[in-house]
Amino acid sequence: MIEKIYEGQQKAEREEIIKRAGDIIKGGGLVAFPTETVYGLGADALNEQAAKKIYAAKGRPSDNPLIIHIADMESIGKITESVSAKAKIAADAFWPGPLTMIFGKSAVVPQGTTGGLDTVAVRMPEHEIARELIKAGGGYVAAPSANTSGRPSPTAAGHVETDLNGKIDMIVDGGCVEIGVESTILDMTVEPPMILRPGAVTREMLEERIGAVAVDKTLIGESSTAAPKAPGMKYRHYAPRAELTVVEGEISRVVDEIRRLTRERIGAGARVGVIATEETVGLYTEGDVKCIGPREDESAIAGHLYGILREFDSDEVDYIYSEAFDTGGIGNAVMNRLMKAAGQRVIKVSRGVR
Ligand code: TXA
Ligand code: MG
Repeated sequence: MIEKIYEGQQKAEREEIIKRAGDIIKGGGLVAFPTETVYGLGADALNEQAAKKIYAAKGRPSDNPLIIHIADMESIGKITESVSAKAKIAADAFWPGPLTMIFGKSAVVPQGTTGGLDTVAVRMPEHEIARELIKAGGGYVAAPSANTSGRPSPTAAGHVETDLNGKIDMIVDGGCVEIGVESTILDMTVEPPMILRPGAVTREMLEERIGAVAVDKTLIGESSTAAPKAPGMKYRHYAPRAELTVVEGEISRVVDEIRRLTRERIGAGARVGVIATEETVGLYTEGDVKCIGPREDESAIAGHLYGILREFDSDEVDYIYSEAFDTGGIGNAVMNRLMKAAGQRVIKVSRGVR
């Protein structure tokens, strides 16, 4: 069942919802809740049976570990082996916020939560509802994104309902999320620390605080065949039902190419979706055209990406063509998710010959 939390709501009503949600988690059940990145599907991280329910509800492969969400720094000692000085600096700078750090795990963390690994991923979210719920739920909430495995992560409660209705005990609806792509994952068990998944906390932001930071090669090298270090990154995540292709290059040529491809596909009887930007949306005259935001506003683009992919799923298009976006700031995370959704399918247009 869906419970709404909104601004201006009676304090007692809000507290009652949080308490009930916390009790469900403490009792071994599943509650979906908003965080600043995406909606999470929460369970008691220290209860192996509860963690197992998450995998069943999502249809998630059991070797894909969960992130443990905490609400305060005092909680971290119980679930980790040790926290380095560097990790403390990063926590100081970016927690609460969209950063997940990986540590050696302590004995109290069940293997069912970590997918059999000896390491544990920890995040302290900033979203007020998330923080209240973590506290009400006993302090340690395992939460993957609250989508069916293989679908785009949910950025609104309605997305969670579409995927998981009837499979979980409660959805706390706190409105649309702020960021729209999942947290940055930083592996603190290696030196230098390594980014396993890009997010709103960028490499540059981290390096400013903790010095050199490496990036998992499999995130950038399309040609690389090595397995990603975050088990979840190896699955074809965020996959829309349609075949998605990213078109990259000088923007006027990108528009020309997408127009050409769209016309060709429609001519052959297919339904086509186009992901455009404010600057270009008026240039597309055919297909199901959606505007993702202004080109220079990477945050807006991040916020709309998953919602648009879901809309195309319900519109039942056969092909989607998307413009490529700038990779500055959170744009790097956007392009990482977009390219994954496209199964790395990209067309590069250049001046002159194609
Ligand atoms: O923003 C987020 O991080 C959201 C919200 C709900 O907090 N959560 C999220 O969880 O994205 P999930 O389960 O969808 O993605 C977790 C990723 C997976 O790719 C998983 O393989 C990786 O984190 N991961 C978790 N524990 C790990 C570990 N010990 N070592 C390496 N990778 C790990
Ligand atoms: Mg996920």
